[in-house]
Formats: sequence, C-alpha cells, structure tokens
Amino acid sequence: MAKLFSISILLLLFITIIPSWAKDGEHYSFLLSQKPATPRVRQKLSHLRLFWHDLVSGPDPTAVRVAQAASADKSATGFGTLVMIDDALTVSPEPTSKLVGRAQGFYALASKEEAALLMSMNFAFIEGKYNGSTVTILGRNAVFSEVREMPVIGGSGLFRMAQGYAQARTHSFNPKTGDAVVEYNVFVMHY
Ligand SMILES: *[C@@H]1O[C@H](CO)[C@@H](O)[C@H](O)[C@H]1NC(C)=O
Repeated sequence: MAKLFSISILLLLFITIIPSWAKDGEHYSFLLSQKPATPRVRQKLSHLRLFWHDLVSGPDPTAVRVAQAASADKSATGFGTLVMIDDALTVSPEPTSKLVGRAQGFYALASKEEAALLMSMNFAFIEGKYNGSTVTILGRNAVFSEVREMPVIGGSGLFRMAQGYAQARTHSFNPKTGDAVVEYNVFVMHY
C-alpha cells in the first residue's frame, strides 16, 4: 500500500513538472533558486585609511625608475616610464607616524594625453590583526584629478577573496623633488 502511494506521488510529480517544459518551446533554461551561494558566511566591509609615501629623491628613495622608452624624455606625460615602489604606508601624513605596511609593486606612465598611471601594487600589512595580510590594487590613477578610484581586485590572509575600491587623494606634492604623500581610503569586502 505504501509502495503504491509513493509511486502515485512520483507520477503526480512528473505530470506537474513535464508540462512546464513541454509547453514552452522557446527557452532552454529556467531559474530554479535565487539563494546566495554561501548563505551562512558573513561578509565584512572594512575601511582602511592610509598615507602612501612616494619618495623619489634623497639617498634612500622608495620609488625608483627601472625602465623607460627612448621617447619618454620627449613625452610631456613621460609616457613609457616604469617605476618600482616599496612605499611606506602610515596612519597619518607625517612620515614619522606609525608604519602599518608597505605598498609594493610598480606604476607605469600609461597615457600620452595626461599624467595617468597604471597602478599595480600590494598593500602588505605589518601591524595589528592584518599583519601578514595583503590587499591588491590594480587600476588607473590620473594623478592631477582630485579623487582617483582604483579597483581592489583581491587579497590574502584576512583579506582573502577581497573585492572593493580605493580612493586616492594627493595630500602633498613637492614639485622640486617629486616626492608625494597620498591619502588612500580603501573600502574592501572580505570574509
Ligand atoms: C608581524 O608578523 C611577523 C611574522 O609573523 C612577526 O615577526 C612580527 O613581530 C609581527 N609584527 C607585529 C607588530 O605584530
């Protein structure tokens, strides 16, 4: 009796499901569920405020030119120049303020029209709970714009699976030496 009952339930299922496919001759995909992929994992949003010190002058620069196109000197925008960086990241604009990490990577002068950089760098943290974790930024930086937005494309450690964006604002620029301090506000979603 129980067997007969379950067979008739199955039959009922087929009768109700099959026609919905048969009726629609146009579509080959149907949305079955819209639940988030990982419903029990909480995503966090963090805001990091850092000051990025680009030292190109002095006896111990943290930003050094490593390659340049032969035509770069003639270009008003320096197009074709590549600079490797290991810039200090501190909590306030003063270079003597607390060091929390380093911005390691490179920037390239990537525009023939204006001073616009391709930024490719990791923020490698050395302080507090983020010590050992990194955030990866890859984006366009038009340095004379007041606010430049760049994507955060990933991270490691506590920033594993990170996604977000960074906003850069020049805090100070010394036209004589080329040294700059830039405020970075990084908004990052991570687990
Ligand atoms: C950061 O981590 C490194 C390596 O584990 C450790 O040597 C160092 O003392 C840590 N720094 C701080 C400030 O906790």
